[in-house]
Amino acid sequence: MSSKLLQTLTTALLCFCIVKTATAQLQVGFYQRSCGFAEFFVKQQVRAAFINDNGVAAGLVRLHFHDCFVMGCDGSVLLDSTKSNTAEKDSPPNNPSLRGFEAVDSIKTILEAMCPGVVSCADILAFAARDSIEITGGLGYDVPAGRRDGRVSLASEALKNLPPPTLDVNQLTNAFANKGLTQEEMVTLSGAHTLGRSHCTSFTNRLYNFNSNSSIDPTLDAMYASQLRRQCPQGGDASLVVPMEATPATADVAYYRGVATNRGLFTSDQTLLTDGKTKAQVFQNAQNPFLWRSKFASAMVNMGKIGVLTGNTGEIRKNCRVINS
Ligand code: HEM
Ligand SMILES: *[C@@H]1O[C@H](CO)[C@@H](O)[C@H](O)[C@H]1NC(C)=O
Repeated sequence: MSSKLLQTLTTALLCFCIVKTATAQLQVGFYQRSCGFAEFFVKQQVRAAFINDNGVAAGLVRLHFHDCFVMGCDGSVLLDSTKSNTAEKDSPPNNPSLRGFEAVDSIKTILEAMCPGVVSCADILAFAARDSIEITGGLGYDVPAGRRDGRVSLASEALKNLPPPTLDVNQLTNAFANKGLTQEEMVTLSGAHTLGRSHCTSFTNRLYNFNSNSSIDPTLDAMYASQLRRQCPQGGDASLVVPMEATPATADVAYYRGVATNRGLFTSDQTLLTDGKTKAQVFQNAQNPFLWRSKFASAMVNMGKIGVLTGNTGEIRKNCRVINS
């Protein structure tokens, strides 16, 4: 073989390998050989935590979302602050409302005992979110895995990347487009607000001193508004919470039925009625639970791919709260 040809071949091979590492894909069944029971143990722990406190399902779904929107799905939301750094979890969108950290710790403890240094914290979040959806009656789905854990977590990044509940439909669409998700996926994923609760502080702007013409947001159903005022008195305790809707531990379409009747808790829920396309999706989902279930499952898979670290980037954390030393 001529040395010229050999050189070309080597270059081609080298390029191929570089490209291959850079685009290493997530895979369903990633831990089949390295830790065969990983997904089974995650599910078992999520079930146990759910029996103890069914709010954990909502917490775990939101944890995965807040992980993925800030520096990608790299487990950065789980890192604790240190003396010199305020982490994502201590940023206002996350503290004090984010929950489920103890469930993640117990999952990680078991997996480290079974297969030390193998399963990433970022994948644990993706599996646990799926299991939470399934346990609450949503559609189960295969989770492509192989995410690795990041070593950076900044409160300022959480503030910049997590959409606040005051956004309108165009701002929400942009926030999701910035993460590679469509407007339709934004509407579909907002359906996660079928689970869990909200602190009063996330929506009291709609109940008191709304604007110069009206103390209550006029787009909010009046009966619902007065109920919320009773649950969330002005100047009340900052720890007060209300359920997202009547069945906060069931992944049903009650969220869309609520929004469709002006009973969405946040401005960001209500605003889905102000655009023709998103409004049509709200009504369609409200009427078709099976459609929403399957759309939600595939939107979660897409959300789980945002900015992932794969191959030999990042690390497999030993403890989800601290980077490996
Ligand atoms: C569309 C933009 C979104 C906005 C503006 C938003 C905002 C919020 C806010 C303000 C809360 C209440 C926090 C509190 O005060 O306790 C909340 C809760 C929640 N969010 Fe979202 N969210 C959005 C999208 C999502 C997505 C995409 C998911 C998941 C796929 C999600 C899942 C949840 C869950 C499950 C809860 C309840 C948490 C619990 O009970 O602990 N949200 N969201
Ligand atoms: C208040 O009402 C006036 C008259 O209807 C209207 O022009 C104005 O835009 C309203 N202001 C707000 C903040 O809604």
